[in-house]
Amino acid sequence: MDDETRKELKAWLEFYEELGIEGFYRREPGTVGTPPSLEAARLAQPAATPPPKQAPSPERITGMAASAPPKPPTPPKPVAPPTPPPVVIRPPAPSFNLFEAAPARRSGPETLEQIRQDLGDCRRCKLAPTRKTIVYGEGNPHAELVFIGEGPGADEDEQGLPFVGRAGKLLNRMMQTVGLKREDVYICNIVKCRPPGNRTPEKDEVDSCSPFLYRQIEAIKPRLICCLGAPAVRTVLGIKEGITKIRGQFYNFGAAKALATVHPAYVLRNPREEKILREDFEKICDFLKSS
Ligand code: URA
Repeated sequence: MDDETRKELKAWLEFYEELGIEGFYRREPGTVGTPPSLEAARLAQPAATPPPKQAPSPERITGMAASAPPKPPTPPKPVAPPTPPPVVIRPPAPSFNLFEAAPARRSGPETLEQIRQDLGDCRRCKLAPTRKTIVYGEGNPHAELVFIGEGPGADEDEQGLPFVGRAGKLLNRMMQTVGLKREDVYICNIVKCRPPGNRTPEKDEVDSCSPFLYRQIEAIKPRLICCLGAPAVRTVLGIKEGITKIRGQFYNFGAAKALATVHPAYVLRNPREEKILREDFEKICDFLKSS
């Protein structure tokens, strides 16, 4: 079995074990289920195809181990925002070798503090040596709305808090415009350490860090997730289309909804685009007011 296959298989096993499904056995190597990135896309489905509310059936697990992998998902389509039940979280991306480290066992819902403790003085990826501070996330642990950005910049790295620089100021202003308070929402990023020179986080960095993000979302159980910019959309929703094409639309993220919009830093560089950010924030506000 090659490394990639092992990683995919491990991600599946962790996912099922977190759902309480255990007792797997190994058959012929070389066939595994949908990789986490495809799973993310599967969870980002239109409302017409209801998202899974529970663990997939044992038959599917056996099928996964024994033969053909599940079909790739239909690309997600935007949906109208209905009333959301509990959040279904995608399986975490692999961060260690299945045959070298046992997955962490957790029973019951975790708190944000527990997840932070588990993160510790994280050295799981190559961002660790150059970061100053881990920027875990900030806000209401029971927020209805979670903002997900790309990664800390210089100001965030300095202060250990997300969105406190120029982009953060714009985010604050947008929230204010539609009557949202920063302390009522939760703000975090797809990676918790500053990428050198503010470059886009790389896949291995996102793979190491995003399991913590998903655990945070699971702990918070928001009604709405707002992905700020293309890297957040790619990571959380598995959508690779251009942000300007898919922004302002609601997607299913498990039982929660997710909306993609442009990153505030993009608006700082293109001030005429502020109106689209404002438009999307009005949608967020309308969604939160509904039901
Ligand atoms: N940009 C981001 O994506 N995240 C931050 O926390 C700050 C700026």
